Amino acid sequence: MKIAVLGAAGQLGRDLVPRLAALGDVVPLSRADLDLARPETIAPAVAAHRPDVFVNCAAYNFVDRAETEPEAAVAVNDFGVRVLAQACQTIWAKLVHFSTDYVFGLDERRATPLSETDAPGPVSWYGTSKLRGERHVLDAGANNLAVRTCGLYGVWGSGGKGGNFVETMLRLAAKGAPLRVVSDQRCTPSYTADVAAATADLIARGAGGLFHVVNGGDCTWYEFAAEIFRQSDLAPALAPITSAEFGAAAKRPAYSVLSTAKLAALGVPAPRDWRAALAAYLAERANRPK
Ligand SMILES: NC(=O)c1ccc[n+]([C@@H]2O[C@H](COP(=O)([O-])OP(=O)(O)OC[C@H]3O[C@@H](n4cnc5c(N)ncnc54)[C@H](OP(=O)(O)O)[C@@H]3O)[C@@H](O)[C@H]2O)c1
Repeated sequence: MKIAVLGAAGQLGRDLVPRLAALGDVVPLSRADLDLARPETIAPAVAAHRPDVFVNCAAYNFVDRAETEPEAAVAVNDFGVRVLAQACQTIWAKLVHFSTDYVFGLDERRATPLSETDAPGPVSWYGTSKLRGERHVLDAGANNLAVRTCGLYGVWGSGGKGGNFVETMLRLAAKGAPLRVVSDQRCTPSYTADVAAATADLIARGAGGLFHVVNGGDCTWYEFAAEIFRQSDLAPALAPITSAEFGAAAKRPAYSVLSTAKLAALGVPAPRDWRAALAAYLAERANRPK
């Protein structure tokens, strides 16, 4: 099996490539090979490589910036993915794509994990563009796979955003500055190693459709920060604030905990609890060659 991976050098892509290598021959692709913002580059690159499976880890990921440049988010996450889905359909390649918990957000009173059948309702341009993208992928073929995940952190860090939430917290704590972290957004920050392993398992089983893949349990970003410091034996001045006080440009869901029941029903082991995943991340980063 030939598996092309776009965004192979990104945070999730780097953890996914070695796991996919167990399933077949992996062809890592970058923006220089196929630029989702330049539709004319898409079909020729897909046709040139003719993969059996095309895994798209690439996205426009700047959640706040998308509020002031929605056309840039839409060009990549909506229009680009639509052209990619058509190109894959043309050569009968399975398309595997990643989406986000930010496709939810309209139901502010929600307090039980969201399943794949719950109606989305994004409250940001990023969420809107990602929802359109996952629909293009699923509409283009029943065998295509769309994986919604949340709050990714991995040892490679998000290329576009430069790092991840865990690294940001540790860096700010090292500076000794008081920290204020939002405590009214509940979700499940997820370790890219675990999301990659579950996604590779879904691909190995030939799964198609929409799946939620996140670590277990849930927390607010404030609770996540507190656990990062607890596990790292750090005690910076940490205080909770509201999203309104924080004042980010993009609105985010108050509750976007994703249920992994569908994943488990298929026999894919549900990723471990978020605290255990964080511990594994901290161990991996400590052992990573500098
Ligand atoms: N990060 C999160 O917290 C989070 C949460 C939920 C869902 N997701 C989804 O998970 C997936 C992986 O995210 P990630 O955190 O691994 O992202 P990442 O580390 O920022 O990597 C994104 C990759 O996309 C590539 N890319 C960006 N624009 C491109 C374009 N126009 N054409 C081709 N490639 C392009 C980047 O390549 P360059 O380096 O060349 O720019 C980079 O390799 C994305 O679909 C994202 O929406 C992420």
